[in-house]
Amino acid sequence: MGETRPTSEFHAGNITAESVARLVAALDAQDTNDGVQRLRAWAHTAVAARPGERAIDIGSGTGSQTQALAAAVGPHGEVLGIEPNNGLRMVAEQRAVAAGSQARFVDGDALVLHLPDASVDIVWCERVLQHLVEPEKAVAEIARVLRPGGRVALLDTDWATTILHPGEPETVAAITSGALSAAADPYSGRKVVGRLTAAGLVIDDRGSQALLQDHTSVAWPLIRMLGESAVRRELITEEQRDRLYADLTEAAEQGALHMSVTMFGAVAHRP
Ligand SMILES: C[S@@+](CC[C@H](N)C(=O)[O-])C[C@H]1O[C@@H](n2cnc3c(N)ncnc32)[C@H](O)[C@@H]1O
Repeated sequence: MGETRPTSEFHAGNITAESVARLVAALDAQDTNDGVQRLRAWAHTAVAARPGERAIDIGSGTGSQTQALAAAVGPHGEVLGIEPNNGLRMVAEQRAVAAGSQARFVDGDALVLHLPDASVDIVWCERVLQHLVEPEKAVAEIARVLRPGGRVALLDTDWATTILHPGEPETVAAITSGALSAAADPYSGRKVVGRLTAAGLVIDDRGSQALLQDHTSVAWPLIRMLGESAVRRELITEEQRDRLYADLTEAAEQGALHMSVTMFGAVAHRP
C-alpha cells in the first residue's frame, strides 16, 4: 500500500505537448461519465460556493469545474484554476472565454501555492493527489490558504478498486493489478478523509461513486493493454488471457459485463 511512483501521464513532469490532445480527450470522456457527474454534483452541493466568494481549482485540467465554480460565485466572486501543464491550461482558457466564464487560469503547483495564508473561501482539488509523490504537502497548502470557515472539496480515484467481471479470479486479479500503475498512488481515493483530517481540517461530508463502464461493450484498448502487460510480466499465460477475452466478449454480448473503478470525495472546512 501507499507506493508512490510518478508513472502517470498526468504527473506534471510526464506530460508532453504531443500527449495534450489525448489527455483532453480522456478528461472530456470522464466529464460525461454518470458517476463523475454525480460525485461532482454532490461535492458542489456540499462545498456550497456562494456568490462573491474566492475559489481555486487546483490541477484544473480543461477547467470544467473551474467554470462550474465561477458560475456559483458569480460576477462578484473570483475563481482561479491552477494548472502546471501549458497545453491543458490553454485549452481551459479558450473554453472559458468561449463559454463567457470569468474563470481565470494560472501556472502553478499544488505543492507550493503562490497565495497568502487564509486568503481563499473554497478549494476544489479533483483527481490530482493520485499523481503527486508528496500529496501531504499539497493538502498542507490547501489548509494554509483556506480562511477559517473556508471549505475544500477533495476528490480522487482509487485505482485499487478496479473491478472486472466475469473471468477466472486469478486472471482477473492479474489484469486489474495492472491498473495500479495508472497513478503515482493508486490508493489515493481511500485516503482523502485521512489526509484532510491530518492537515487539521474538519470533515463535513463524505461521498463516493463507482465509475461504471459500458456493460455491453469491452473497452478493448484498455483490456488489451492490461492483458498483454500481464502476459509479459508472466502473471498469466496466453491461454488464460485468451479465455478472459472470450469470457468478456460473451458477457458484453449478453449485456452482463461489469467494469468499474471507484472515486471517493470529502468536503471539509478549516475551523
Ligand atoms: C486527471 S487530471 C484532473 C483534471 C481536473 N481536476 C478534472 O478532474 O477534470 C490531473 C490534473 O492534475 C494536474 N497536475 C499534475 N501535477 C500537478 C501539480 N503538481 N500541481 C497541480 N496540478 C497538477 C495535471 O496537469 C492535470 O490537469
